[in-house]
Amino acid sequence: TILVIDFGGQYNQLIARRVREVNVYCEILPYDVSIERIIEKQPKGIIFTGGPSSVYQENAPRCDKKIFELGIPILGICYGAQLMAHVLGGFVEQPTIREYGKRNLKVIETENLLHSNMHDSVVWMSHTDYIKEVPAEFTITATTDTCPVAVMENKDKNFFGVQFHPEVEHTQYGRDIIKSFLFETCKCTGDWTMSNFVNEQIQLVKDKVGNKKVLCALSGGVDSSVAAVLVHRAIGDNLTCIFVDHGLLRKDEGDQVEEIFSNRFHMNFIRVNVQERFLTKLQGVTDPETKRKVIGEEFIRVFEDEANKLKGMEYLLQGTIYPDVIESGSKDGAVIKSHHNVGGLPDDVDFTLIEPLRDLFKDEVRAVGEELGIPKDIVWRQPFPGPGLGIRIIGEITNEKLDILKEADHVFRDEIKNSGLENEIWQYFAVLPGNRSVGVMGDERTYDYTIALRAVTSTDGMTSDWARIPLDVLERISNRIVNEVKHINRVVYDITSKPPSTIEWE
Ligand code: XMP
Repeated sequence: TILVIDFGGQYNQLIARRVREVNVYCEILPYDVSIERIIEKQPKGIIFTGGPSSVYQENAPRCDKKIFELGIPILGICYGAQLMAHVLGGFVEQPTIREYGKRNLKVIETENLLHSNMHDSVVWMSHTDYIKEVPAEFTITATTDTCPVAVMENKDKNFFGVQFHPEVEHTQYGRDIIKSFLFETCKCTGDWTMSNFVNEQIQLVKDKVGNKKVLCALSGGVDSSVAAVLVHRAIGDNLTCIFVDHGLLRKDEGDQVEEIFSNRFHMNFIRVNVQERFLTKLQGVTDPETKRKVIGEEFIRVFEDEANKLKGMEYLLQGTIYPDVIESGSKDGAVIKSHHNVGGLPDDVDFTLIEPLRDLFKDEVRAVGEELGIPKDIVWRQPFPGPGLGIRIIGEITNEKLDILKEADHVFRDEIKNSGLENEIWQYFAVLPGNRSVGVMGDERTYDYTIALRAVTSTDGMTSDWARIPLDVLERISNRIVNEVKHINRVVYDITSKPPSTIEWE
């Protein structure tokens, strides 16, 4: 195991992904984790992340000093490097200007972290403070024109500090630097692969569950689907999946989910058709947060009703994944939207949880899905919010609006697929803002709805940019929507990034 100690930087999960990409298991822990917990994990190495603070700030995040006495190799990145320098007796300076962007690395020594081909290579800087003097026993092994200590190393203790960000794509040899640390310094073996993971988890589930019964809330999304197939491999018919079809899914989606899990994977699969029940509950509801609450609560009620009909269920399977459980180094954050997942079931349920994916990032969950032979259109499905189309219809949700939105969204997705843009766009969908406007069709005046198209690029959904869909593709989409979808006479494209906008409209 490698431990990534989180000082609140924006690239923390990226660091962990870089480590896991080369088949080394790692975990992210907050900076104030106790020394006992670190020792308990028996890490082969520790990585300090960057962070927005200065070591001179009064409540700057610090770790326990004893971490430097454990004999474990440490790689400090950006703020992590500054903290290492500061704590071990170097000098961190606070210049007045920030350094941000690409720089060329001047390699002085290549013994440990660096290789000779990295000389003059591009590195990505993003910092205010920098290390002016290294602590005793450290040597400077690389600089840049603007940064006196780009890399510092203490070879006896295996402590390394890099001022730039090896984890980002812009750093040309970033992956090699991380690999040097993992394999040459920490002597990691690199045998953490998805096929090993699958076999291990299947065995673990078998051992844990025995011949007891497991219940699963299946949404057809990536996480719950992969979790269900994995557990099905382990225990077969002792797994029962409940699929709540609340009618807020995309066109034909309910049927597809049923087809795959019931007919192709032969699971115990219960589809609950509660489209009318949800629509009734949502009558007159226009406020976004209220909508989310109503849908979330009703989902739980339906699930409970169905679960109560089944006998002898002891375990509840959840598709929790690692980003849901990471204890972050920065604990603040305002509630922008109350997220609802199928995993958002009540705390007081009478089940023991099993969460076989809770150590995995999304891309790893997908790799596991492929390993398990789940169809690509499920494994690579774009994110879809728990409240579904309910938060893509602004204002009250009606059957008529749902039908319009489903058709328009279907055309949009079809054209993106036809243009081969599927893999370049993180998420794309239609929104029905609910306003009407005047148009003209075949000499007739129309007064009909507008459809908004939303398509964004992103790596994690936390920030995003609007996708630069070629204009001719947009034109085709627009033409098809107004021609094929009744009650639409106008199509607009949303060109806002997040922030200040959000990806979904509600
Ligand atoms: P926003 O709209 O907050 O969305 O920029 C960020 C990402 O999260 C998805 N999303 C949700 N996912 N339950 C989910 O599982 C939810 O309630 C929910 N709301 C938004 C959204 O689709 C985007 O990928």
